[in-house]
Amino acid sequence: MNILILGSGGREHALGKAIKKSQKSGKVFFSPGNAGTLLYGSNINIDYKDYDALRLFIQKNEIRVVIIGPEAPLVDGLADRLSSDAELSHLKVLGPGGAGARLEGSKSFAKAFMKKYKIPTAAFLEIELSNLSEGLNYIENSEGPYVLKADGLAAGKGVLIIQDRNEAKEQLKEMLEGKFGAASSKVVIEEFLDGVEFSVFALTDGKNFALLPEAKDYKRVGENDTGPNTGGMGAVSPVPFFDEQLEKQVVDHIVQPTIDGLKKEHIPYTGFLFFGLILCEGQAKVIEYNCRMGDPETQVVIPRLRSDLLDLIIDAIDGNLLNKTVATEGGVRVAVIAASGGYPNDYQKGKEIFGLEKLNHDNVFHAGTQLLGGKTLTSGGRVLAISCPGENLEEAINNCYREMNKICFDKIYYRKDIGKDLIDKA
Ligand code: AMP
Ligand code: GLY
Repeated sequence: MNILILGSGGREHALGKAIKKSQKSGKVFFSPGNAGTLLYGSNINIDYKDYDALRLFIQKNEIRVVIIGPEAPLVDGLADRLSSDAELSHLKVLGPGGAGARLEGSKSFAKAFMKKYKIPTAAFLEIELSNLSEGLNYIENSEGPYVLKADGLAAGKGVLIIQDRNEAKEQLKEMLEGKFGAASSKVVIEEFLDGVEFSVFALTDGKNFALLPEAKDYKRVGENDTGPNTGGMGAVSPVPFFDEQLEKQVVDHIVQPTIDGLKKEHIPYTGFLFFGLILCEGQAKVIEYNCRMGDPETQVVIPRLRSDLLDLIIDAIDGNLLNKTVATEGGVRVAVIAASGGYPNDYQKGKEIFGLEKLNHDNVFHAGTQLLGGKTLTSGGRVLAISCPGENLEEAINNCYREMNKICFDKIYYRKDIGKDLIDKA
């Protein structure tokens, strides 16, 4: 069967590569894809907002499965539109509709949902311009750090963690006055949680779920978790401290109640559900939900699957996940992102990437890359991920950095400490 994967990141490269291995897979198309996805299929460039063009492409190319990678089209309701299109009645769509995607698209929806279903999360307050004084009072009467979150999608930039009380008040005002456009017309102020973060992923049909391998990502641009937040600078799977007991706690108190809550709310949900968690004094709490897989977490999670990914995806779409489990490889995977110097702020594009031919294709996932005139050029902030396996964490880290040393481009930047904090944390 022919498959269309929407998105252009390392996540889509990793999903496409795993899907291409499946016996059921026919032609694979990526929109827009990147230089790496060309190894597994064809790149097309259709804006998902141009719905008629998308539908025509699906019809002409006999696409049977559409996988929606990023959050924006999901929050915009693309899955609803494709699934309810009478002209596309045989199409299978992976990704929740707009209602389910609100778990990511609206922090205030997600917090109210967690409160209603008693899912552990940070205490919070919802502030709009009309009750600004309540927010300012809260900040005045509490100790920092202060966590301010734009309600809507803000390209990963909508969360501010501020030490200084006066700056927090100032930022709260600026957010409500449009610092992140409409996304911050409402702000969630959260209790600051101190602990270690990790992520858990489920593939769900809305009734049942299969747990995928967990991962830890490294969000800050600088070593030792310093500097601004990014989309993610590296990832590790498995997480050494995620033992059976913690898995049971997370499933019983977070994953299951979330799926049950969606059912009770009559919100259908078919797709990946990503739980961004923090372990505080032995208790896992939800920092955020995402309605999709993570990037670069996908680049360590998906290569560890022994199960056929396309089979699992079809089971999810067809509502057949009851009693399905995911077989996983042993060992460890580590991914390190090579970024354009300056990211997440200003950076240059169009730099030639040298040394790719020295790398094993299994260890590279492209993101901001483009093939032009036979050269592979940088075209984004996060350029590619090197993702390597190892029998243990140290070996996987060493393998990753050895491979990283084989490539270069002007102003390449990567963190040199990915995974190192987890050594001896089992
Ligand atoms: P989010 O977009 O909600 O995942 O937040 C981005 C990052 O901010 C998270 O990965 C955490 O590192 C941090 N963060 C978010 N909420 C909190 C919180 N309540 N306490 C401490 N850190 C937080
Ligand atoms: N790496 C974090 C995310 O995909 O949201």
